[in-house]
Amino acid sequence: MSAPGAAGPVVHVLLDPDWASGSLVDDVRRGLGSRPLRLPPKWLYDDRGSDLFDRITKLAEYYPFRAEHAILDRHAADIAAACDATTLVELGSGTSEKTRLLLDALDDTGRLERFIPVDVSEATLREAAAALASRHPEVEVEAVVGDFTLHLGQLPHHGRRLVAFLGGTIGNLYVEERAAFLGVLADSLDEGEWVLIGTDLVKDIDRMVAAYDDSEGVTAEFVGNCLLVLNRELGADFDPAAFSYVPYWDPREERMDLRLRAEVPQRVTVPGADLVLDLAMGEEVQVEISTKFRPERIREELHAAGLEVTHTWTGSADDGVDDFALTLARKA
Ligand code: SAH
Ligand code: AVI
Repeated sequence: MSAPGAAGPVVHVLLDPDWASGSLVDDVRRGLGSRPLRLPPKWLYDDRGSDLFDRITKLAEYYPFRAEHAILDRHAADIAAACDATTLVELGSGTSEKTRLLLDALDDTGRLERFIPVDVSEATLREAAAALASRHPEVEVEAVVGDFTLHLGQLPHHGRRLVAFLGGTIGNLYVEERAAFLGVLADSLDEGEWVLIGTDLVKDIDRMVAAYDDSEGVTAEFVGNCLLVLNRELGADFDPAAFSYVPYWDPREERMDLRLRAEVPQRVTVPGADLVLDLAMGEEVQVEISTKFRPERIREELHAAGLEVTHTWTGSADDGVDDFALTLARKA
């Protein structure tokens, strides 16, 4: 842990020093050791990946960021008034750019005592936490370098909490992972505490596909970044130029399915995971899904975890149909 003061806010590091290599080895053996080939998306977010995601949020095609920003712009005060939180926890906080709106509104209630951003991407987290600590000097900022699929039970516990999970990041979890995550999240809360979940909504297919197939190719670079992470962390010899980026809309699961396709037959070695991977031409590695929701699905998944919806706010990026939802729920 680092101390507060001139050096910035308190930062708790829950990830082991060998997390990037150790946990990545397990994920690579599990995900690339058998078919279908799959990697968890958390490995996209090294420093380069976090910077690429930041660029994605500024793309014209990427409506989810603007839509959620618009909802917070319009309703942050309503959210603050609807709950009695004194601590804001933010999971997968990244740059916490939109969270500023929520923090300002919670601060205006006079109740906010503490902000706890949680992310695996340490440099981005430290920078965001320091900026928010100087914007809100009266609020204690305790940043946590941690994995929200592993560390929910170990987060600092103060006051009455509102746990925000913004951006639609919950949609990057598979349905069974979401159920497990929401169950652990609900178990980590006391009765009457709050969650605020951002979800992208099912809409016009072309619009959803364009958001993940931008004309500048930033999303392709972001998804391909996982190969560079494997090369650096595990000594793998992936050649990114031998793969193309293929984003699909999966109508049955109602999710974007972001893959890398081998353009030539190839053998890749991953020494750090004792793995040799023979890829046929056209074989695909699933790197990320991005689930799009309908309001009843959100409500049902939260209810199944013991979280009851109290409010829903929807909004859009460009004053059109509702793109995105922010759902406030309470631990029953
Ligand atoms: N909440 C921000 C950032 C979304 S990008 C927004 O709405 O714009 C997703 C963020 O989640 C990234 O910062 C990434 O580093 C983080 N992340 C992804 N998987 C994670 C995990 N398992 N545990 C903690 N953080 C994770
Ligand atoms: C972080 N998450 C919600 C983004 C999304 O839209 O699913 C990640 C992303 N992947 C490609 N573009 C954006």
